[in-house]
Amino acid sequence: MDVVSIRDFSREQIEHVLKVAEKMVPIAKGEEKSNLLEGKLLGSLFYEPSTRTRLSFEAAMGRLGGRTLGFDEPKGSSVAKGETLADTIRMVDGYSDAIVLRHPQEGAARLAAHFADKPVLNAGDGAGQHPTQTMLDLFTIKKLKSKIEGNHVAILGDLKYGRTVHSLSEALSMFGAELTFVAPPTLQMPKEHLKRIESMGIKPKMSSSLEDAIKNADVLYVTRIQKERFPDPAEYQKVAGLYKVDMNMLKNAKKDLVIMHPLPRVTEIDPEVDATEHAKYFEQAFNGVPVRMALLSLVLGGSK
Ligand code: CP
Repeated sequence: MDVVSIRDFSREQIEHVLKVAEKMVPIAKGEEKSNLLEGKLLGSLFYEPSTRTRLSFEAAMGRLGGRTLGFDEPKGSSVAKGETLADTIRMVDGYSDAIVLRHPQEGAARLAAHFADKPVLNAGDGAGQHPTQTMLDLFTIKKLKSKIEGNHVAILGDLKYGRTVHSLSEALSMFGAELTFVAPPTLQMPKEHLKRIESMGIKPKMSSSLEDAIKNADVLYVTRIQKERFPDPAEYQKVAGLYKVDMNMLKNAKKDLVIMHPLPRVTEIDPEVDATEHAKYFEQAFNGVPVRMALLSLVLGGSK
């Protein structure tokens, strides 16, 4: 199947991915060898910059004995000559066994899935969704808190343009987590996602105060203000640097507060926080490897 939106997955299917991912951890760490995807090729098409998603997909494929082909920016491909996404997808569909796509336009992965016979994995479509990030976020919360349901997750930052939080908040609602959205009013969670969340029986709290939200949170999920998605740079300047998680802010936090961030960060988490027990964002980034190994093995028909 394709991995386009978290909405395409049931809770049971997500739980299955997380279980498979757990078994992949020793292979992801290089402690065990696997040839589960030997002979398989992943087409990797990144129309936007990426460090974690692209490299962890490549690591996942390589650790399972498969290989990756593609581009990390469209300039070096025939996209620069005006080739459409539909045509590029048709080509790569013939060259590979699955396609991972990052694209600036919302809906691009769904379009790619329409034109491809092979499975398409959405690595982020504009301000839309980032479902594989959500699965690694859920995997991280489950690992650190032993369960997802019942945890109070405060999600901070750019909730309007941040695709990771769109997928994540919907998935957390499916699992029965408590949600607080912390953002300036102009960057609050879009209505479309709020409706979806409320339809699952979750009533998220809305706040613009990090101080208030941090006190009750079990997990603080921090995001970057998505500068590249603001149509007006002046609007970005109004909200840039508005929130910062620092040592002073953490004085009011629960002792076992987990701080996550999909990364990259800019100024929203002070580097001093990295040395605290709260900081789990680098562990979270590593979890991208076993989770993407699980997804690749499931869509490519390997099993662990
Ligand atoms: N979390 C995430 O999507 O990071 P990259 O943009 O580096 O892939």
